Formats: sequence, structure tokens, C-alpha cells
Amino acid sequence: MKIVHVASELFPYMKTGGLADAVGALSAALADHGHEVAVFLPGYRAALEHKDAAKAARTLRVKVELADDVLSGDVRVFSPRPNLKVYLMCREEFFDRRGAYGNGERDYEDNADRFIFFCKAVVETLRLIEFSADIVHCHDWQAALLPVLLREAERRHNVTLALKTMFTIHNIAYQGLFPAKTFARTNLPAELNQMDGLEYYSQINLLKGGLVFADRVTTVSPRYAREIQTPEFGCGLDGVAQTRAEDIVGLLNGVDPAIWNPATDRHIPARYSAGDLAGKKICRAELLKRCKFPADFTGPVFGIVARMTAQKGIDFVLENRDFFLADNVRLVVLGAGEKRIEEDLQALAKLAARKVFFSPRLDEAMSHLIEAGSDFFVMPSVFEPCGLNQMYSQVYGTVPVVSRVGGLADTVVDADADPEHGTGLMCEPNAASLFDALQRALVLFADQPRYAAVQQRGMVRDFSWKVAAEAYERLYQESM
Ligand code: ADP
Ligand code: GLC
Repeated sequence: MKIVHVASELFPYMKTGGLADAVGALSAALADHGHEVAVFLPGYRAALEHKDAAKAARTLRVKVELADDVLSGDVRVFSPRPNLKVYLMCREEFFDRRGAYGNGERDYEDNADRFIFFCKAVVETLRLIEFSADIVHCHDWQAALLPVLLREAERRHNVTLALKTMFTIHNIAYQGLFPAKTFARTNLPAELNQMDGLEYYSQINLLKGGLVFADRVTTVSPRYAREIQTPEFGCGLDGVAQTRAEDIVGLLNGVDPAIWNPATDRHIPARYSAGDLAGKKICRAELLKRCKFPADFTGPVFGIVARMTAQKGIDFVLENRDFFLADNVRLVVLGAGEKRIEEDLQALAKLAARKVFFSPRLDEAMSHLIEAGSDFFVMPSVFEPCGLNQMYSQVYGTVPVVSRVGGLADTVVDADADPEHGTGLMCEPNAASLFDALQRALVLFADQPRYAAVQQRGMVRDFSWKVAAEAYERLYQESM
């Protein structure tokens, strides 16, 4: 098949969260299966500075309309592996910046123009290179206009650019909501700016475009596919999601074994596997050292790696500060995002520097060290479309403590509720329930044979992308 992916993140060229890992691993798995895969990504500064982009094979120039403006962009193409091409949609004005969506404090004010331009440039490129895709698969709100723009361009130019379109919702909390006047920038017919189109309470909602107009819609876990059809998790789009109930499928993300594998991981000081955990002890010792914790500490180390947003339930962790200030545990947190959460964690780490460590940075190597060196990984999300870190944790023999929502509920089994199959500990998304799970973690850690059994079961589980990629392949085939 000829498969196009369109996304605002792609590991290792631009990453703010799991979207990058998911699109990177899925497109690679599909290419390795022999499909012809093209991934379209905005030409961010970081992507252009990456060594792979230096080999960019050819440059194409596209012109797109945004209302009455005609904007040009350059397309740079390179091939990081056989069967896979990455197309960077470049326009300095929009993408020659450090951040993908904002400067850390707030979102960029021209995000509507940036991503409408991106989507239009993709359509125009597909037309010019005559790619004739079997599937155009778009991800999240930044690419959600593609299905409708594609069909419009096909009508206008009387061509077929794609047989089918697929839209994956990685997070329905981010919708690309913009003032009504933004609609003009799409140059779409006015009838699409209505309740059954992009209009949403007198604004325009780009994610809704994907949800309404794509041939198939997927989310990144079966449970989240059901959740987004409820008022509690649908973030105002539950009604629209319900209208597509028959076309929405939940497919779990996987773990990319080339990147997240303790037996080959070059970011950690020693490698290990389920059969020989000696290396994990070395990783733990290194983590204690990096955090300036006492080297002879023997209690459980709790790790967190997450975007610092309300989604991740860090507030429940902060409400349990007394638990983490006790002498018998240590807490290591890596994550950047909302100032308020960063400041609260910073204050906690300052208060108890020998017990709590916090680094407010994006640090790929440190994220691997925390996965490898911790005894428990804490992820009490308020909602979680899929979640990758709870899977990475199991693969790294780090017992996850997670809330029973979305993909977390689909990928972790509670060791107390199901002693034979348990791979982690689960709670409800609130502080009191997290406290209970943390207490159970202490009990589990004190019983080392039982802890080791839980750890082993997680390590031998198969989270590989092979399963997920095959499920997408089947869905592509079914849709055609
Ligand atoms: P989300 O996509 O909602 O952020 P996921 O669990 O799906 O959540 O994926 C998060 C990804 O981002 C993981 O690969 C995680 O290791 C990574 N990550 C989050 N924060 C940081 C950080 N500060 N430094 C490095 N990696 C991070
Ligand atoms: C989103 C979700 C996360 C998911 C990731 C990749 O960022 O918040 O749960 O794992 O996308 O699909």
C-alpha cells in the first residue's frame, strides 16, 4: 500500500510527547512491512538541524492560499530508512522556531495559520508529486483538516489524491479551537462552517473536521474510544463522536524496541533483561547519584516522566507530598509544561532535596534513566488516551502505579486484584486513591519475591508495535 502519515510530531525530529513516538514507530513498522510510506511534518528548526535533514534529496516549492494571501513553502525530502520518506513542509515565518506549539509559557498566536498552511501544503505536495495514496492517515487537530481539504482539492483539480482517509485522535483535549473568522483562512465552502462541519459554538474546531470528515476514525486505546463518547471524557465533542460510533476503533500503541529496550538502550549505564537484572541495579545506583540522593538508600524509588499538565495527575502526587517526604521513599520527576505545576514541584524538591528530585527539562537520556533506575513509575492521569510510559515501565521492570482510565486501564493489570497476572498497581484518578495505591506499593516492595514476580510479568509482556501495525494494516485494507 501507499500510505501517507500527516502529523505535527515525529520522533526523533520533533517531540513534545507520545504523539512523536507513536507516529515514528508506526510509520517505521509499516515501512518495514514493505509498504511505501511518506510522513509529512512541519519543517521545524529542530527537524532541519537534524543530521538526517542535511541529506534532503530534493526541494519542491509549493504555493498555497490562506484567504486572499498566497504563501509559498519549500518541501525538503529525505529517507531515514528503506520504504520511508519524510517530507518537511518548510516556511521560516511559521516553523523556524524552537517550540512546536508555543514558547513554553503560551501557545503561538498564529497557530491556526501555521497548521492550516501545513495541511494545505501537504495536499498541494501530494498533488504535485502525484503520490496517489491508498491511505492518508492524519493525527490530532494539527492535521485534522486534511480529510476535508483533500476532497476539496480533488474536486477542484478533478484528480484522486487518496482512496481513503483515516484520522487518529491521540488526545481529544486539544482541539484546535479558533475564532470564527479563522474559517476564511481555509478557503473552504461556507456550508462547511456549520454545525455538521467545522463550526463549534461560534468558533471553528479543527479536530472536529477530522472527526466528521475522515473515512475512518481511530483512537489510541479501546477504552479511550468508548470514553470520548461520554461527557466525562469527550471534552465537548462526545456528541459528535457518538455520531461516528460505528467508525471509531481503538488500537493500542506499542513500544518501539529499537528505542525502548533495556537490553540495548545506550542512554543507560548498564543493560539488562528479564533473565538478568544486575544492570537494573547499576541504573538505580546511577539515578540515585544523579539526584544526589544517599547512595545507600534501599527503599523504593518512585519515578515520573511526563508533560506537566493537569492531564497527568501530578496534582494528586503533590497532594500526597507527605508520603514522599517520608524517609523510606524517594521521588524523581522529569517534566516540563505548566508553570504552576513546575513551581510546586520545584518547591517540594527544594524543601527536601535529599528525598525529592525535579528537573523541569526535556531530556531524552534522563527519561530512559528514570524508566530503568526506578522501582515504581507513577502515572495517576486524570485521563490518558493511551500512555506510553506505563508500557515502557513494564518493559524496563519498573512497576507502574496508574489510574484506571483510558489506555492505562487497557495495559496494566492490578497485582492485588489479580495476583496471578498483575503487572502494576491501579487507583482511581484522585489523591486518596493514589495514596492507597502508594501504600500498597510499599507493601509489595517489602515482599521482594512478590515484587520480582510482578516485575517479571511486566517485562515479558509483548507490547511490540508489530501487533499495532498489523491492526492498522487490517483497518487500512478494510477501508479500501
Ligand atoms: P503524552 O503523549 O500525553 O505526553 P505518553 O505517555 O503517550 O504521554 O508519552 C510521553 C512521551 O514523552 C514519553 O516518551 C515520555 O518519555 C516523553 N516525555 C515526557 N516528558 C519528557 C521530558 N521532560 N523529557 C523527555 N521525555 C519526556
Ligand atoms: C497523546 C496522549 C497519550 C498517547 C499519545 C500517543 O499525547 O496524551 O496518552 O499515548 O498521544 O498516542
